[in-house]
Amino acid sequence: MRLVLLGPPGAGKGTQAREINQRLAIPHISTGDMFREAIKRGTPLGRQAEVYIKGGRLVPDEVTIGLVQERLVQPDCRNGFLLDGFPRTVAQAEALDSWLSSRGERLDAVIDIEVPRDALLERLTGRRVCRQCGATYHVRYNPPAVPGKCDACGQDLVQRADDTEATVSKRLDVYNEQTAPLVNYYRQRGLLKEIDGSQAIPEVILAIGRALGRDWQ
Ligand code: AP5
Repeated sequence: MRLVLLGPPGAGKGTQAREINQRLAIPHISTGDMFREAIKRGTPLGRQAEVYIKGGRLVPDEVTIGLVQERLVQPDCRNGFLLDGFPRTVAQAEALDSWLSSRGERLDAVIDIEVPRDALLERLTGRRVCRQCGATYHVRYNPPAVPGKCDACGQDLVQRADDTEATVSKRLDVYNEQTAPLVNYYRQRGLLKEIDGSQAIPEVILAIGRALGRDWQ
């Protein structure tokens, strides 16, 4: 299946993507993770992206589109993929459509996870991530067994640089201005599956399964 996960920062895209990835065995492609990895390695792409990410702004379309297209031609994407955080602008969505149609392919569905703004602020400022393996937790909703330590690898949990209150607020504004129009874009194309992301994490994955015609009990 060729899927897109849409939704504001903190909606739970990364959390649900890991679940979908296990159930459908398709690669999880997160542009945010790709940029953070490039920043960690200090590559030219990372140095360019860091300025935008720290400011809560989008990395320019031409950089992001090229990065995703390079990833989608890898052999593991032959039978499908799950895009998380891409597309994020109408220009990115159009580029994806025309790239897929040039290969005789199309998206199967766009999963839109919606959560009210107040809850998003709480989720993002309470999020902690493992500095080693990238596992995601929440101090209240998804706490690790030992406070401050990753359940999977035991390394320290840290706050993402763009999860401060000021940057989160900017990211939510950018989402409303530049990404929210994609909801209608995909609704008009008959691809949109709307999911109530304010439910608990296990309920959300069941709702996504139902929207895709699968029973994930
Ligand atoms: P990116 O990494 O994609 O961030 P984002 O879209 O802002 O999304 P987040 O990762 O913050 O949230 P999420 O929806 O994955 O939520 P999560 O599952 O972690 O992008 C970062 C930056 O990179 C962008 O700002 C931009 O600068 C740049 N970028 C990336 N893609 C780009 C593109 N295409 N074009 C241009 N620039 C781009 O959950 C959040 C928290 O809530 C966690 O603590 C989790 O445990 C908790 N939680 C999850 N679900 C629930 C639930 N149901 N109930 C309670 N808590 C929950």
